[in-house]
Amino acid sequence: MRAVFYVFSGTGNTRRVCEEIVARWKALGHEADLAMIRADESGPSPEGYDLIVVGYPVHAFNAPAAVLKFLKKLPMGDKKAPRPAYLVRTSGEPLGLNDASGITPRRILKKRGYRVLGEFRYVMPYNIIFRHSDGMAARMWRDAKLRMDETVGTMSAFEEKKVKVNPFKRMVSFVLRIEHTAMPVVGRTFKAAKTCIGCGKCAKVCPQGNIAIKDGRPVFGGKCVACMACAFSCPEDAVRTSLLNGWRVNGAYPLDGEPAKDEEVGRYCRKAYLRYFHETEEKSAPRA
Ligand SMILES: Cc1cc2nc3c(=O)[nH]c(=O)nc-3n(C[C@H](O)[C@H](O)[C@H](O)COP(=O)(O)O)c2cc1C
Ligand code: SF4
Ligand code: SF4
Repeated sequence: MRAVFYVFSGTGNTRRVCEEIVARWKALGHEADLAMIRADESGPSPEGYDLIVVGYPVHAFNAPAAVLKFLKKLPMGDKKAPRPAYLVRTSGEPLGLNDASGITPRRILKKRGYRVLGEFRYVMPYNIIFRHSDGMAARMWRDAKLRMDETVGTMSAFEEKKVKVNPFKRMVSFVLRIEHTAMPVVGRTFKAAKTCIGCGKCAKVCPQGNIAIKDGRPVFGGKCVACMACAFSCPEDAVRTSLLNGWRVNGAYPLDGEPAKDEEVGRYCRKAYLRYFHETEEKSAPRA
């Protein structure tokens, strides 16, 4: 079976999760291609694939604007025999509200002749608002890997794995979609601090091609989708993200360290994180 993974990732979490899923998919004897969603690339056509998978990070309880734009441009499939599709999302919190982020991708895919059979949630470290402890990040990554066999098993059997979204979650997600119109404006006001060394890394990692280096300094354009790749990856922590600056997170997480124990899980959304970890770990525990 052949699958194509279309993946958007600002700071690497979704990419890492999808790459690992692809590795397990191939270990089952299937084929897969993974294409990053970037403004300057259209990716392979879904033609010839049995399955498409769309990977994205949750942004304000929605899929990022870049993902929606990409899906709207997917070649039309056959509406009478829609090609199967799955969504794989990563989010910083294990909240049910994040499930609302699948509504618009599902709708667009349906219109274009694809049928979303299921959605998979992966909790990964936050890349905005606050920084998770290294232990939390390591537990998230360990547990993400524990969830993957179920994901590839479901996909290879074309099983359904639907999520329910109640009207309250729909409404919150709809209101916060304002981010899609606000960010191109806010992103223009991002700046580099004096500590910028003009290395150009921010421009290189921006999936939107929104950063130009002029006279050794980054200049931010009007295509920002708030992926935070620039601020996260800057070796000097020199990107100033305007209204979002207080929420800036900088520097990759060491994911392969010692996972946090239950008592080390912080107070923020503690119950929800523990529920997610326990559910994952109990499901994957070997049966006695
Ligand atoms: C602008 C923005 C909004 C976000 N909104 C949410 C959110 O609504 N819920 C959540 O759980 N995580 C949220 N996050 C966290 C990311 O979804 C999470 O860190 C994700 O794994 C990042 O994936 P990436 O590294 O592939 O970009 C947000 C991150 C950004 C940058
Ligand atoms: S990554 Fe940081 S140091 Fe390098 S050009 Fe961009 S802002 Fe300057
Ligand atoms: S400017 Fe920064 S936050 Fe905006 S899309 Fe580019 S990398 Fe992402």
